[in-house]
This record gives sequence, structure tokens and C-alpha cells, in this order.
Amino acid sequence: MLEELKKIREEALKKLETVESEEDLSELNVSVLGRNGALTNILRAMSKLAPDERAALGKAANEVKQSLSAVFDEAKTSLEEKSEEQKIKAETLDVTLPGVIEIPAGRLNPLTIVYRQIRDALIGLGFTTFEGPEIEYDDYNFTKLNLPLNHPARDMQDTFYVNDRVLLRTHTSPCEARALMTLKPPFRVVIPGRCFRVDEPDASHSPIFMQMEGLVVDKNLTFADLKGTIDTFVKAVFGENVKSRLRPSYFPFTEPSAEVDISCTICGGKGCSSCKGTGWMEIMGCGMTNPHEIENCGLDPKEWKAFAFGVGVDRVACLKYGISDIRLIYEGDARFLRQL
Ligand code: DAH
Repeated sequence: MLEELKKIREEALKKLETVESEEDLSELNVSVLGRNGALTNILRAMSKLAPDERAALGKAANEVKQSLSAVFDEAKTSLEEKSEEQKIKAETLDVTLPGVIEIPAGRLNPLTIVYRQIRDALIGLGFTTFEGPEIEYDDYNFTKLNLPLNHPARDMQDTFYVNDRVLLRTHTSPCEARALMTLKPPFRVVIPGRCFRVDEPDASHSPIFMQMEGLVVDKNLTFADLKGTIDTFVKAVFGENVKSRLRPSYFPFTEPSAEVDISCTICGGKGCSSCKGTGWMEIMGCGMTNPHEIENCGLDPKEWKAFAFGVGVDRVACLKYGISDIRLIYEGDARFLRQL
């Protein structure tokens, strides 16, 4: 039996050398030390031996058992370490891989794009930005701009009134009055903002719309300065090939006044259905600021000249991007914005 014990031990150690996985090891462990294992069977068979034989063999068998379990334990620990190492290697994170979830990106509204283009072109000419309130005094929206009460031109703009003296501004021009009354001339300002008029919404009308006002105050300003300024930002927004022209018009706050046309963005000026065959499209009003307005705002019109323009940002965005319905600009539909 002692022989057999020795053999069990040697075989177990030999097999251990070929063990590659934790399963192999556990199999070996069971086959030697398990309930029906080789060593366990020997211990069981010892009950049939004489007591003195039993003691000697028992001691030897226990030694084999202890030494094998120690060896098995050691092997188990080293196998566990190995497999942990492999697992870590296999799980290495590549943080540069693209994510699985697509995060939808927002897009700029065409009004923002066009606003920034006009603003940046004007900033290049020495303008700074200026802003005024959307809820405005009638006095600034009309009276100071040379539109006294009962002036027929007040009817040109259907106004949302808050009360007798307060309204939702119908254009950004009241900010001209605010700038003239607060800034120290000479100055050049560009004034963006939302405006409001009583209008049934349709493809070309929105009761809320966006304007940008330009106002330049200096000594010795001429109409040529106005034309050069307008031509600069028209080219910045629509491209170098687009021409601009001034056409006589009327606004109470300018004298003389003009309407600005640009060469048709669809046909390039040849004449098409979009420009009604004229080759031109109207984009805004402008003029030399009326001396009455300058005086109403506390400056001496003999000393200070000014020119101004007011552009519908919605209209420019529609022309630039071929948008046929102004309401799309205000609906915030991402599918629309993605097309720009
Ligand atoms: N305020 C005018 C409008 O809403 C646009 C305008 C025309 C502004 C001529 C000006 C200007 O500053 O000089 O229709």
C-alpha cells in the first residue's frame, strides 16, 4: 500500500505538469483527493488493516494528502493569476473608438447664420453692436423718428399696442433714437432684433420677424458712404458677383430715402419668375437720416450727419437659401435646418 501511495503521489505530480486550466486542475484534484479519489480510497481501505500497520500508513497517507493539497492550492493560485492577467489583456479599452450612440447635433437657424454674416461684415467696417427693448415706447418707435401722432405713414405698420404709450416695436428703428440719445458721436452701430406686426401668417409674412438696423453718425457723411457700406455687406452675404442698386423711395426717418435691390439670386439678373422679369430683388430700405430725427434725439443736425438702413433678416435668409415659406424659419424643424 505504501508503494501505491508513492505511485499516486508521483502520478498526480506528473499529471499536474500537463494541467493547463482551472478545470483540468479541479478534475485532477477530484480524481486524487475527491470522495472517490485514489487517495481517499486508500484511506478508506485502511480500516481493514491491523492497527500498527494502520498508524504508519495513515501517517504516510496524510502526508501525501497534505503535500498534494498544498501543491494543488499553489497551482490553483497561479492559474487564477494567469487567467486574470489574460482577462485584463483581452479587456483593454480603446478610448479612441467611436461611440455607439449617435448624439444628434443641432444646427444654426438661417437667421443666425445671416445675422452673423451681416454683423461681421459691418464689424469689419468699424461697427459695434447695440440693442434695444422689444417692448417699446410709441415715442421711440414713431414720434422721435419723424412720425408724429396722426402721421399717415404710421398706417404703413400695423402695430400691436400694449397701451396708449407702449407697443411691441414694429421695426428696429426705435433703437436709432436710443443710440442717438445715449452714444457719443461719431459712432457706427448695427442693431439686431425681433420685431412685431399684426400680420396674418403666410408664406411671406410672419407676425414676428427679425430686422437689423445700421446707423452711422459722423460729420461729412455722404450718400456714397451709405452705398459703399451696403454694397460691402451685400457681397459678404450673397457673394462678390451680386450687384446692388439704390432706388428712390420714401421713409419718414430718412431724406433722401432709397430702397436697396440686389441682382436676382436665382437668374443672376437676366430676369426670371422669381424677380418678375426685372433681374432685381428688393431687400431693404435706407437713406440719409432725416435732420428732424437727429434733432428730436438731442443732436445738432448742422453738426452731425447720419445714414441708416433697416434690413429684414428673414427676407435675406429666404433669398440666400431659396426658402419659399418664411414660417419654416420659425418652426424649428430639425429636418429643415439640416438641409441648409
Ligand atoms: N424701419 C423700416 C422698416 O421697417 C426699414 C428702414 C428703412 C430702416 C429705411 C431704416 C431706413 O433705417 O433708413 O420698413
